[in-house]
Amino acid sequence: MAFTHIGLLCSGGDAPGMNCAIRAVVRTAISQGIKVTGIRRGYAGLLRGEFSPMNLSSVGNIIQRGGTILQTSRSPEFMKPNFRKTAVEIMKAQGIEALIIIGGDGSFNGAMSVWNEHQFPVIGIPGTIDNDISGTEYTIGFDTAVETAIEAVDRIRDTAHSHARTFLVEVMGRNSSAIALKVGVCTGAENILLPHEKVNHQKIFDDIQRGVARGKESSIIIVAEGPVAGRSYEIQHVLRDMYHMDAHVAILGHIQRGGSPTADDRFIASQMGNLAIHALMDNKFPVVTVFNAGKVGLNDMKNCITKSDHNFTEYQKLAETLSI
Ligand code: F6P
Repeated sequence: MAFTHIGLLCSGGDAPGMNCAIRAVVRTAISQGIKVTGIRRGYAGLLRGEFSPMNLSSVGNIIQRGGTILQTSRSPEFMKPNFRKTAVEIMKAQGIEALIIIGGDGSFNGAMSVWNEHQFPVIGIPGTIDNDISGTEYTIGFDTAVETAIEAVDRIRDTAHSHARTFLVEVMGRNSSAIALKVGVCTGAENILLPHEKVNHQKIFDDIQRGVARGKESSIIIVAEGPVAGRSYEIQHVLRDMYHMDAHVAILGHIQRGGSPTADDRFIASQMGNLAIHALMDNKFPVVTVFNAGKVGLNDMKNCITKSDHNFTEYQKLAETLSI
């Protein structure tokens, strides 16, 4: 099928670099004679018919901007077949023949169902700071989120050292370990607490005491967020009540989701946006643009609809060894 008109939306949490992917999709499509309709606020906006025609200028001056110009949302309705049917009817009524989705595994799940139930062509571009989608080693936004967190932890280290304090720094990522592990190694953290591991308070205490005994002036413990943000406070209370240890808490939160994308995020997102259009023109769908072994390519969407924790626990060991 030769496509003449496609829809484009972002879904789930925003991620720096989404705008680079939007720009690449729009400019590649237009260069191939394909019209693009931007769909605002994700699947929820699609169901409300929030459409904006895109031209070359609509994506001008956005490559450096964080967030997403199309805005995004989490849409629980889209998990229901009747809402997906309505969405396909709405798109067809607009003359939209295929949909490109920039988002995470949940967004791809919805897209996969749209294909399975209605054979409506869909292509995914992975965008989430969590880097937790199966079938790809990289998701757009991860590098920027890591850089932002590193900068924040470096600042915290300055004040931690001045006051000889211990800090629990909580990073985003929900059940994914990816941000915590990379930030932990890159900031010389004394400990990294992963989302699926039971917290060993005794070990945290012993590690800090060992450091203090050799004259260490500060300690940073990176806490992966886990299912609910704020678990650092529980850890802080146990350390205080059971070990009389005074640890400060810093929760980095949404600061990690904003900001200008790094070179890696811009470069990979630009390639993925471009490849998404070429995949569609080659009638390859449903697929996701992926990054594996240093290269951008395609993977069947069915391989990219679950969460994957690229859980390189050796990095946890590395952080501990190097901060001994
Ligand atoms: O999935 C991206 C993410 O930033 C997670 O790291 C975090 O737990 C979650 O989104 C926060 O979601 P919201 O912005 O909807 O609170």
